[in-house]
Amino acid sequence: MKKSDLIDLSWDEFDELRDPRPAGNDFDAVVERAISRRGFLGGALAFGSGAVAMGAGVFGSATSARAQAAGFAFTPIDIATDFDIHVPEGYAWKPLVRWGDALWSEAEGAFSPETGVSVEMSDKVFGENTDGMELFEVDGKQLIAVNSEYVNPKINLPADSEGMPKNADEVVLLKNLQGVTVMEVADQGEGYAVVVDSPYNRRITHETQMTMDGPVAGSDLVKTNADPEGMSPKGTMNNCGSGRTLWGTYLTCEENFNGYFGATGEFTLTEGFERYGIGGEGRYAYEKFDERYDLSKEPMEPNRHGWITEIDPANPDSTPVKHSALGRFKHENAAMTQTADGRVVVYMGDDERGEFIYRYVSNGVYTEGGSTDGLLSDGTLYVARFNDDMTGEWLALTPETTGMELAELLVHARMAGSKVGATTMDRPEWIAVNPLKSEAYCALTNNSKRGSEGMPVNAANPRETNDYGQIVRWRPEGEDHGAETFAWDLYVMAGNPAVYDNAYGGSDNVTPGNMFNSPDGMAFDTQGMLWIQTDGDDSNEGDFAGQGNNQMLVGNTETGDIARFLTAPNGAEVTGLCWSADKKVAFVGIQHPGGSWPDGDGIPRSSVISVWREDGQAIG
Ligand code: FEO
Ligand code: CA
Ligand code: CA
Repeated sequence: MKKSDLIDLSWDEFDELRDPRPAGNDFDAVVERAISRRGFLGGALAFGSGAVAMGAGVFGSATSARAQAAGFAFTPIDIATDFDIHVPEGYAWKPLVRWGDALWSEAEGAFSPETGVSVEMSDKVFGENTDGMELFEVDGKQLIAVNSEYVNPKINLPADSEGMPKNADEVVLLKNLQGVTVMEVADQGEGYAVVVDSPYNRRITHETQMTMDGPVAGSDLVKTNADPEGMSPKGTMNNCGSGRTLWGTYLTCEENFNGYFGATGEFTLTEGFERYGIGGEGRYAYEKFDERYDLSKEPMEPNRHGWITEIDPANPDSTPVKHSALGRFKHENAAMTQTADGRVVVYMGDDERGEFIYRYVSNGVYTEGGSTDGLLSDGTLYVARFNDDMTGEWLALTPETTGMELAELLVHARMAGSKVGATTMDRPEWIAVNPLKSEAYCALTNNSKRGSEGMPVNAANPRETNDYGQIVRWRPEGEDHGAETFAWDLYVMAGNPAVYDNAYGGSDNVTPGNMFNSPDGMAFDTQGMLWIQTDGDDSNEGDFAGQGNNQMLVGNTETGDIARFLTAPNGAEVTGLCWSADKKVAFVGIQHPGGSWPDGDGIPRSSVISVWREDGQAIG
């Protein structure tokens, strides 16, 4: 494979190339034996014990979806296959901000529809490939903090580059278009727009100076030539999903950081590098022009990425903090809630085939207006085991349970999770906590390798070659997110009932009228409705015929009904969702669109859009 071919791979394909799949663990072996005994393996209905877990469900909610519109304040829409956005009748949309739009007036007009932006302007505009976002009210202003997950080098670099940077400036350009944007937004009469030159506007990139707290800070595992104390990592990258703290700060989640590192000389391929998919050749050739990304010069630099990083959007001069107590993996998002006694809980997924779902619980208690010191640096990290009988346990990752030093087990949380027998999952993406009841949901987007490669089917991940995905939910014992045990079921198994009449047709709340594949982003609104965004196959062919472009749906978690609300331009995934302070406008991220969306000509532009009800009622 040529170096330039690497950037054409999806992150999932890149993972497959690096193949950092987990070693089988004891629990998997148990499940494999159990399912084999029941004769579920190998048949066309490779569905295993999940037959128990879908349908009525332990919580009795997955009722018929026949009356799809019941409970929804909109008429569900059909699929689309075009290069436009579609929303229900009575709703409207417009772009809020596009990749390359100015955050400061000096960058107005900086974007070229043929070539994007120059390196000089690259950290003064909204970044590419928008992802997780949250809205904050600060001093009567509305601020959105939003991730830019990655860049498309073939669009941003000169046509003869084949998508590979040829000098340090081009690396800076690519780096600057990732990271985080904080921007003030306001409706000044013509719908929401970015407030250019707001004192709150800020870009946070690979170059932004940060600090680290928690047990890994100061450890040898994070010391580099530039930071011999191991306390001040630089930059955040591949910022995927988001979270918000109870005290009004933003959590950005570093996902596919592994692909940015490569080696120009000799380096040691450690067990840790292998498990995280870090190898000899980076996707973007940064290592050729910036020693920080060169494993042969800075072997500890990759350990400084893959964290949950906290940003205070209210203070543009604040220093972001990487919270090592929350573990290092390919973080999707961070869903914060509290235990019954007030300790902080953060649920987190590790988006890779066969990786795990995690929970952090603080030692200290959060009270409104009280000190937040230590709440994200002093606590315990757990990993989830989903038992075949639809119970589950949180397994503590400690030196005692893993035989690893504390800093080591946090840096290599995946290896620690395998040691305690966590359940391999079908690519955990976003987790959302129901604001109205004690339960949490995780989108398991898909897993083409389920049923092979050390990932036998299990009850929560019940289909071999799972190209559709499912959403698992759990309810903690005693309605306490701090409990050690939980009950779980599958809220939905995506599928195609027009093609399959078996498990691949989906659970009974999936119909030809609402079907989708690869659930990914999720957020609850204030009414307790679960908004579901997809990042899947939008070919509308074969197994995906009738599913159209990626979409955003709304799920009623009491009845199980799911209805399609929005369809994205072909090529795009829908990712990132937040609401205006008055809940009258939803802000929705449209990442990597195709065609020339939204401008109608020139290169396509990842954008955040505003969606509202034309009658002025709230939608969230
Ligand atoms: Fe960045 Fe797993 O999505
Ligand atoms: Ca995602
Ligand atoms: Ca995804």
